[in-house]
Amino acid sequence: MARQTELTGQQAEAYYREWAGRSAALYEEAAEVFPGGDTRASAHYAPFPNFIERGRGPILFDAEGHTLIDFMNNFTSLLHGHAFPPIVRAVTDQIQNGSAYAAPVRNQVSLANLLVERVPSLERMRFCSSGSEATLMTLRCARAHTGRDKIMKIEGGYHGSYELAEVSLVPFPQQCGQLNRPTSIGVDKSFPQSVLDDTIVAPYNHIDYTVTLLREHADDLAAVILEPILGSMGMIPATRDYLGALREETERLGVLLIFDEVISLRVDLGGAQRLQGVTPDLTAMGKIVGGGLPVGAFGGREDLMAHFDPRTKQPVMHASTFSGNPLTMAAGHAAMSNFGSDDCARINRLGERLRDGFNNVFEAKGIKGQAIGLGSLTNLHLTDRPLNHARDTFEGILEAGHITKLIHLGLLRRGVFAAPRLMFCTSTVLEDQHVDTAISAFDDTLDELRPVIQAERSALII
Ligand SMILES: Cc1ncc(COP(=O)(O)O)c(C=O)c1O
Repeated sequence: MARQTELTGQQAEAYYREWAGRSAALYEEAAEVFPGGDTRASAHYAPFPNFIERGRGPILFDAEGHTLIDFMNNFTSLLHGHAFPPIVRAVTDQIQNGSAYAAPVRNQVSLANLLVERVPSLERMRFCSSGSEATLMTLRCARAHTGRDKIMKIEGGYHGSYELAEVSLVPFPQQCGQLNRPTSIGVDKSFPQSVLDDTIVAPYNHIDYTVTLLREHADDLAAVILEPILGSMGMIPATRDYLGALREETERLGVLLIFDEVISLRVDLGGAQRLQGVTPDLTAMGKIVGGGLPVGAFGGREDLMAHFDPRTKQPVMHASTFSGNPLTMAAGHAAMSNFGSDDCARINRLGERLRDGFNNVFEAKGIKGQAIGLGSLTNLHLTDRPLNHARDTFEGILEAGHITKLIHLGLLRRGVFAAPRLMFCTSTVLEDQHVDTAISAFDDTLDELRPVIQAERSALII
């Protein structure tokens, strides 16, 4: 197919199909066994996802043999790219001695000590198998402690793959109600009404509205759970004032404050809580803590975590076959102990370079858009309105979703592996040159898609 410098939407998709021919065939095979050829919603994108064969350092090798710079790092869970030698050594050493025992092992304590030393809210902690399980256990702890049922969560917040964790994840305009009093809605038809009734939804970064809702529901609320950076809705950082106001008000009302730092733990050695100087009662973690293996972790005040103490009369039940798995602990310790202040500063600086570069491209091309985020976490948005909460970003997604999709495919064809929603995250094995490659790939992609933008969303052109 002869290459053109400017493409229609259909051509852009056709080029991707041609570029990823082997993945198209593999996808067909997958569709024989998985519904829609997919076993993980977040890793799926249309027309079909590119199959990856292996990874080394910052580079992924796909089924076709293309090399891709990895800016996804498995949705932010890899700090050191792929096959990081200390992790490979630690996991190889461990697996030769077995991969799972129904018994405590020493490396659980080593990794826990490292986390407790770094993360301000952790006086006691536990491991589990996923971020979903981690947030769920913090909620159960809060309910056990307060004797109350309801939980406040943030519109657009994502805490895992169970119902409460996804209430009002997507603020569908016809259903989400007023901003000062968002309606609890399900993202699909599987949500029981009882869960919606027990979940109070508040708007991110809106102190007055959130505090009013908190005061109104305080007698029934066990906890407020929120991400210090709203990840799924496009990496919107919470303001320090918002986090501070929540801390003050929850303390006054006797409601527990839970930070979901499953993503944000990587912005500072002590997570966003240390960076922002606001300490929650409980914290849920995951992703980077496992060094690339499945993991979750949660912890907080000693008196709260005492609810899990098996020596007490009726502890909160937390069994979980793979909690503190020796392989995960080995990988996690290798990843986290090789992530010091300098490494954290380095990935944050690369993130800053990426955002600056993307923002310069938007400006130079005369296209309304912005790169936002914090530290190593970045998201592109095709809108120039200020982005403070989920409705701000979702409006942009509704208006320019198709263009976002084509930009993602265009970046892939240029060897840049980002999330379909145009999320990027940097790792310690990336260099400036990788970041600059991503910026110029974005520049070329916008040039190529100009006619599509003109035809579908001319309001984006300044
Ligand atoms: C903020 C946040 N919390 C919780 C989770 C759930 O973690 P897991 O997918 O490991 O269950 C995620 C996953 O992306 C997340 O981003």
